Amino acid sequence: MNYHIQSYQQYEKARQEAQLNPELFWDKIAQDNFIWKKPWHTTLNYDFSKPEVKWFEGGQLNITENCLDRHLKDRAQQTAIIFEPNDPHSKTEHLSYQDLHQRVCKFANVLQSNGIEKGDRVCLYLPMIPELAVAVLACARIGAIHSVVFAGFSAAALATRIIDCDAKLVITSDGGFRGDKILDLKTIVDRALEDCAMVKTVLLVKRTGNRVVLKPNRDAWIQPQLDSASVDCPAVVMESEDPLFILYTSGSTGQPKGMMHTTGGYMVYSAYTFKNYFQYTEGDVYWCTADIGWITGHSYIVYGPLLNGATTVMFEGVPSYPDFGRFWDIVQKHRVTQFYTAPTAIRTLAKQPLSLVTSRDLSSLKVLGTVGEPINEDAWHWYHEHIGGGKIPVIDTWWQTETGGIMIANLPGIIEAKPTFATKPMPGIQVVLKSEDGQTLEGSAAGSLCIDFPWPSMARTIWGNHNRFRDTYFSTFQGCYFTGDGAIRDDHGNYRITGRVDDVIIVSGHNLGTAPIEDAINEHPQIAESAVVGKPHDIKGQSLCGFVIPKNQSIDASDLLSSVNRLISEEIGPIAKLDQILVVSGLPKTRSGKIMRRILRKIAGGETSNLGDISTLLNPEVVDEIIQQFHQSK
Ligand code: PRX
Repeated sequence: MNYHIQSYQQYEKARQEAQLNPELFWDKIAQDNFIWKKPWHTTLNYDFSKPEVKWFEGGQLNITENCLDRHLKDRAQQTAIIFEPNDPHSKTEHLSYQDLHQRVCKFANVLQSNGIEKGDRVCLYLPMIPELAVAVLACARIGAIHSVVFAGFSAAALATRIIDCDAKLVITSDGGFRGDKILDLKTIVDRALEDCAMVKTVLLVKRTGNRVVLKPNRDAWIQPQLDSASVDCPAVVMESEDPLFILYTSGSTGQPKGMMHTTGGYMVYSAYTFKNYFQYTEGDVYWCTADIGWITGHSYIVYGPLLNGATTVMFEGVPSYPDFGRFWDIVQKHRVTQFYTAPTAIRTLAKQPLSLVTSRDLSSLKVLGTVGEPINEDAWHWYHEHIGGGKIPVIDTWWQTETGGIMIANLPGIIEAKPTFATKPMPGIQVVLKSEDGQTLEGSAAGSLCIDFPWPSMARTIWGNHNRFRDTYFSTFQGCYFTGDGAIRDDHGNYRITGRVDDVIIVSGHNLGTAPIEDAINEHPQIAESAVVGKPHDIKGQSLCGFVIPKNQSIDASDLLSSVNRLISEEIGPIAKLDQILVVSGLPKTRSGKIMRRILRKIAGGETSNLGDISTLLNPEVVDEIIQQFHQSK
């Protein structure tokens, strides 16, 4: 089976084969390119009405043998991970495949000696240091289910996630370096664990040298345990459908959703898409700037690259430290060949003096990628022209935490790019557009973006809440997976993602649900009710605007934004802070009491004259007042 697509003909052939017989297509890819301990008896078993999806049933494997052990024969000394620390003057680390294998085995043995067994949940709350990748793989080695929580989330948000997945053990560090800041991770974990009796053990990585207090019988430094651990750790046998990890993503309402991914299918799809979307070849140095706390980091810093025996860069810091030339320094320093980042980062960097780019040698680059949010035309052209010298392909990759891997994007050098369009689906991905009344749209059209057939790396459930999984993704349109995004298809079958059609707002590439933010705002002693909407923002793509009803008229609006943002930071994290707050006496509501966010979105975006039919509102009179408030606030 041709695993590496290298021409348009090969893409078309793969697409047709996958369309005709998707099971056979994935069957051949899975058989020919991975190590299985036992072959599967059924390639695919699915029923979207339940929903139930099983790939490679009966197959047994361990993903870490595919990421590590199998490379030891030919590439033991090749660098697997280049660790670029926050401080440019600190030493870069190069971990070979052999080093990584040993570190993962030792770490896995330490987890086992702390009582962790197959199926246990382990929460990782770490900065972007090699131990994070090692810990992820160590969990996978022994069949523990990792749940990485982005280290920018607050204690309350961390606690919610630990409780939801009932984690037994937490791995964190004494702190983390991020630009000129030091994150006090241990204190955040301590606060989170006040509400989490299920956590029996906290293992601590030393990174910043912050003074930390160890709680007796719960906390321990990991290093002494690693020092005495064996480098030998047999990989636990996993069924293809055994859970590999849980990763939380925001929903439009309620708790974050613990998306559960399983082993075999995720392995096959993350590896296949990495190889083809980045056209990775021997000797390349690949760098994705995401954090491993997000799905992009799981699939395209850790699993996808290592499954392909690639060299992957892990960067601890931020694009602005010590100055806005840092990304380009790293590209030059490590001769990076594939570079993958978010449109927000591109927009931020495009606002800086061009000399920060032109003073660096970026000639090693071969592929540029973007992910996480729509990329606007200006940012696309800046990236293409100034970073890619006008000749390197830019790939706009659309996918989600739920999809596990890239679903729609232009294969570089193979499918022509079209700025602002993610373009064509991966072979095997059957994209459909649906009208509001559930009809499948043909030809050029705009509608709700759905996937009509299972693919190997789709999430199997929401941890502990299968009904919510069905309701969120499989009930809006019968018989297909609904992404929550809207999209346009042009005459040539290229897709352009137009944005969320639900109450999820994407700020700087981070998914934020309105409900938890509103819950945090409503904790404010002076606020009775609130509604949060997104509005266009030059750099972040969208920013958050809150409309709040005070408990009484005498509210002090001057300090309101900062006091509300303090609350949001405590409850969720700084990523969910509001940019603007408007005090109003009412919120537009339907007769059933639902807030009409469509109207608030338009007002926040400055579109105050074309609000559509508001006569059906319970309280149409508030709309004028809100518009007035909006104008006064400018
Ligand atoms: O709205 C889409 C947007 O990000 C959402 C998924 O967010 P998350 O699960 O956090 O995963 C982000 C990284 C894979 C999608 O529903 N999105 C992601 N990529 C793009 C995008 N919107 C437009 N263009 C993209 N390339």
